[in-house]
Amino acid sequence: MDIQKLLSEMTLEEKLGQLTQLNAIFFKKDNTADITGPASKLHITEQDALLSGSVLNFIGAKDMKEIQDSAIAQQPHHIPLLFMQDVIHGYRTIYPIPLGMGCTFDEELVEDCARMAGKEAAVSGVHVTFSPMLDLVRDARWGRVMESTGEDPHLNGRLGAAFVRGYQGDDLKGKYDIAACVKHFAAYGAPEAGRDYNAVEMSEHALREYYLPGYRACVDEGVEMIMPSFNTVGGVPSTANKLLLDQILRREWGFDGIVISDYNAYREMVKHGLAETDKDAAELAMNAGCDIEMMSATTYLYAKQLLDEGKITMEQIDRAVLRVLELKDRMGLFENPYRAANEKEEAELHLCEEHRALVRRAAEEASVLLKNDGVLPFSKDLKKVAVIGPFAAEKGIKGFWACAGRDEDCVTVLSGVRQLLPDAEVATTPGCSWELGETEIPDLENAVELACEADAVILCLGEYQKHTGEGNSRATLTLSPAQMELARRVIDANKNTAVVLFNGRPLVITELAEIAPAILTVWQPGTEGGNAAARLLFGDANPCGKLSMTFPYTDGQCPIYYSHNSTGRPVKNPKEITQNGYCSRYMDAPVDPLYVFGHGLSYNTYTYDNLTLSTDVLHAGEELEVAVTVKNEGKYTGKEIVQLYIRDKFASVVRPVKELRDFAKIELDAGESAAVIFTLTEEDLKFHTASGAFAAETGDFEVMVGSSSDDVLKATFRFEK
Ligand code: NOJ
Repeated sequence: MDIQKLLSEMTLEEKLGQLTQLNAIFFKKDNTADITGPASKLHITEQDALLSGSVLNFIGAKDMKEIQDSAIAQQPHHIPLLFMQDVIHGYRTIYPIPLGMGCTFDEELVEDCARMAGKEAAVSGVHVTFSPMLDLVRDARWGRVMESTGEDPHLNGRLGAAFVRGYQGDDLKGKYDIAACVKHFAAYGAPEAGRDYNAVEMSEHALREYYLPGYRACVDEGVEMIMPSFNTVGGVPSTANKLLLDQILRREWGFDGIVISDYNAYREMVKHGLAETDKDAAELAMNAGCDIEMMSATTYLYAKQLLDEGKITMEQIDRAVLRVLELKDRMGLFENPYRAANEKEEAELHLCEEHRALVRRAAEEASVLLKNDGVLPFSKDLKKVAVIGPFAAEKGIKGFWACAGRDEDCVTVLSGVRQLLPDAEVATTPGCSWELGETEIPDLENAVELACEADAVILCLGEYQKHTGEGNSRATLTLSPAQMELARRVIDANKNTAVVLFNGRPLVITELAEIAPAILTVWQPGTEGGNAAARLLFGDANPCGKLSMTFPYTDGQCPIYYSHNSTGRPVKNPKEITQNGYCSRYMDAPVDPLYVFGHGLSYNTYTYDNLTLSTDVLHAGEELEVAVTVKNEGKYTGKEIVQLYIRDKFASVVRPVKELRDFAKIELDAGESAAVIFTLTEEDLKFHTASGAFAAETGDFEVMVGSSSDDVLKATFRFEK
C-alpha cells in the first residue's frame, strides 16, 4: 500500500478519525464486551464514529469481521480498522495474573504464555494488546499491582521484554503475531496513599532510576505502542507531559511507535484542572506527543480550530496518522483486513489441551510456598480430605481482567483434588463468603466437623478477583473477620492443614502465618488454577515461585520494598519491635515485612556454598565472574531461582541496601549440585549519579547471591575505571 499517497488523498476529518479510538459499542450495538471507565457522551454523530481508525473492547472473530466489513464499506478510502483489546494474562485460556508471572522469574515461560495468548487473541481478531503493564509496584493497597510483575525494576524489565517478544514475535511477521502496547507511562504504580488514579509525586532521580527502566526495556525490545498513564507526574498528567512523552520517550529513547492515550484521559485533564476546556485538552495532549485518543473525541472535534489558530500543525497530524497507517500496513490489513480472525481456529485453539497444559505449568511455577512446617506435600494415599473455605469450590479464580476468559472454564481446587485423588473421600464447605469485611460464618460448625474427620485439610482463603484490579484499591489488606475466625477454628481442629491463598496482591496475613502449618499462595491462578494447586499440594509438582512483591507485616508499612535506601538511623534489629526511640522504627510493628521479595520455599532445601569472585577489582571494560554452588539437599527434583544482588557501598547519591542485578532458574535432581556463574560488568553498576550522568562510580561494592533477598552469601569487590 502506498501510504503517502493514501495520506495525501485523505480529508482532514478522515485523518482525525484515524487518531480516534472508539469502543466497539459504537459500531455494533449488541456488543457484549466490557466497557471500562465512563462512556459518557462524546458529542459525535454516528457518521463521525464511522471514520474512527481503531476499536477497543469487542469479543470474537465474528464480531470483528462484521465491524470490519461495515467500517471498510463506509469509510471514504476503505481503510481497515485496527482492533485493540486488553489481553492481560491470556485471552480465553487464562494464566496467572502478571504479579504471579513475576514470581516465576522465567523469561521463557512468560514469552510462551504471551505467545499463546497472542495466538488465541489473533484468531479472535485482535491486532493490538494493551499489555504488558510495566508499572513498578511497591504499595499493595493499589488494586492494579496484580497487573504488574512486581516491585523490582530489573525483574520487570526482563519479563516485560519477554512479554513483548511473545506477542510481537519476529517483527509482527507471523500470522499470529499481535502488536504490544506497554503501559502506563509513567509511574502509575506509585499513586499517593495507594489509591488508584491519585497523583504521583517523586523526584526525577527516582523516576529515572527505578520507575522508567521497565518501560525502557520494552521500547528497546521494539514494542509498537505505548500508553501514557492517567496520573500526574510532577503536577502534569502523563497525557500532556512533555518531559515524559517528548523529551524522554521520543528524544532520549528514540521511540517512533504510536502513543495512545488511556480511556477518556484527554478529557480527564479538564477534571485535573490542567485544561480549561476539551479543546485545550486536545491541544495539550497533541503537543505533548499523543497520537491516538482513546474513547473521547476532542482531537476529532477541535483539531481544525486548533490548526486555524496555529496551535498545532498539519505536520503533527500527518505524522501521527502515518504512524497509524504504517502499523496497519505492516500488519497486512490493507490486503487482508480480517488478518488471522477465524471462527474455526477459535474453536480449535481456545482452551485446547496444549494451552491448558501451558497455563497449568504457569500456575504451578507462579505459586509461592510461603510457609511449610512439614505438612506439605500431602500424601496421595490419604483417605479423607476436606477442602474448606470460600475459594474451595469457587470458579471465579481466573483473576481480574481476563479479557475473554470465563469463570465457567476454570478448574476449582475441589475438582482438582477430586481428579487427582479419585479414590479419596473429599468433603467440602465454603464456611463463609469471600465478601470483604464479612463477619458471618454460616457453616462454621460443619466446617469444623469436616476438619476433625479429615486426614488433611485444604483451607482456601483470600480475596475475590473483583477486589483487585483497576479502581479497586484497599485501605486494609487483612482477611475478613469471618475468614480469620474460620481459619482459627479449622486449624485448631486439624493440624494437618495447608492454606491455599487466592490473592491479587500481597495481603496482610501475619496472624495466619503464625497459626497455619503451611501457606501456599496461588494468586489469581487462571483457568487451570485448581489442578495446579492440587498437584502442588500432593507433590506432583514442587513449588518454586519466589515473591515478586513484598508481603507487609501490617498495612501501615505500605509502601514497602526490599531495595529501599539506607537511613542514617537504622534500627538494630528490623525484625523486632524496638523500645529505642530516635531511630527509623515503628513503635507498634517491626520494620521488616512478613515475607521479603524473592522469598519462596520448595519441598527441597537448597544449600548455597563457595561464593567466589574471579577478581577483587573489576576494571571498566572487563568482566567479573561470580560463582556459587547450589545443592539440592531434598528428596525431589526441583527448580531453584538463584538471585544476585549488589550494593554500591559509597556513592554520590545514597544507593539501595541491595538491588537485584541477575537471576538464574536452575533444575536439580535430588542430591544434585550445580555451579551457577553470573557475569558482572560496568553496565551493571551504573546509576543516575549526583551530576545527572548514568555511570558507574569508582569504589567498593558488595555482591550477594542467595535464595531470597534476605538469605544471601556475601563478597566484596572494587570497581575502578
Ligand atoms: C483503562 C486502563 O487504565 C488501561 O489499562 C486499559 O488498557 C484501557 N482502560 C482500555 O481498556
